[in-house]
Amino acid sequence: MGKVLLVASGKGGTGKTMFSVNMGAALAQRGYNVLLVDMDMGLRNMDLYLGMEDRVVYNIMDVLSGICRISKAIIRVDGFSSLYFMAAAPRLDERDITPLHMAILCAKLREVFDYIIIDCPAGIGEMLEVSMEAADKAVIVTEPEFAASRDADMTERFLHEHGLDDTCVVLNRVNVELMREGYMPDLDTVTSSFNSPLVGIIQEDDNIRISTNKGIPIVMKRGTYIEKNFVEIIAKIIR
Ligand SMILES: Nc1ncnc2c1ncn2[C@@H]1O[C@H](COP(=O)(O)OP(=O)(O)OP(=O)(O)O)[C@@H](O)[C@H]1O
Ligand SMILES: [Mg+2]
Repeated sequence: MGKVLLVASGKGGTGKTMFSVNMGAALAQRGYNVLLVDMDMGLRNMDLYLGMEDRVVYNIMDVLSGICRISKAIIRVDGFSSLYFMAAAPRLDERDITPLHMAILCAKLREVFDYIIIDCPAGIGEMLEVSMEAADKAVIVTEPEFAASRDADMTERFLHEHGLDDTCVVLNRVNVELMREGYMPDLDTVTSSFNSPLVGIIQEDDNIRISTNKGIPIVMKRGTYIEKNFVEIIAKIIR
């Protein structure tokens, strides 16, 4: 049975979608059958980060409201034999979507995929509650800013209060110089704001921004320090 991994943050723009697509790509490169699910209705970006924006016809809302079969909304990502994604709806959707819908969908997806990676919207509202329904583990992606730390703490509490205890944290967008000069909260300050284990640190790097703009996951460039770092982080997440 496949595992459902949730990627959440609280604060917007911390790198959830960037992290989700690279985690998915790195797992697929290692032979796993992986499905990426974009839950950011109305503000979807995953299709762009995968360079697949022209290929989306059906989305998860169409699946959950019975307009199409699950398989119709699953798109294989170019350049991969075992990486797939399901897009979010392009607009905020009035159609009802409940945790039960998500549980039923994930139960079916687990039969086919080794990993189902759910990229959440920012915030700790209803959509996080729906997204987390079937999750086995959550990765909270945060950044070294006081606002992000507070929001990561709130997200961690929300997940635990709603029954998801297996949580870990990835600290993204670290600028070592700013940290050293005291212009960015240091690691001890950041890590003291949450209880979950820190499984990885990702530096702020223009190459990551370029990769999301190009629609090519950065881990596709093998042998770089970024790819090696991702592989180490992901090994800790799935072990
Ligand atoms: N480590 C990094 N270094 C440089 N740029 C980064 C890094 N991580 C993410 N970015 C850039 O930051 C922007 C936001 O990233 P992303 O869309 O993944 O955030 P998000 O948390 O999914 O945002 P949202 O809350 O809107 O869904 C993107 O342009 C991405 O390329
Ligand atoms: Mg996002």
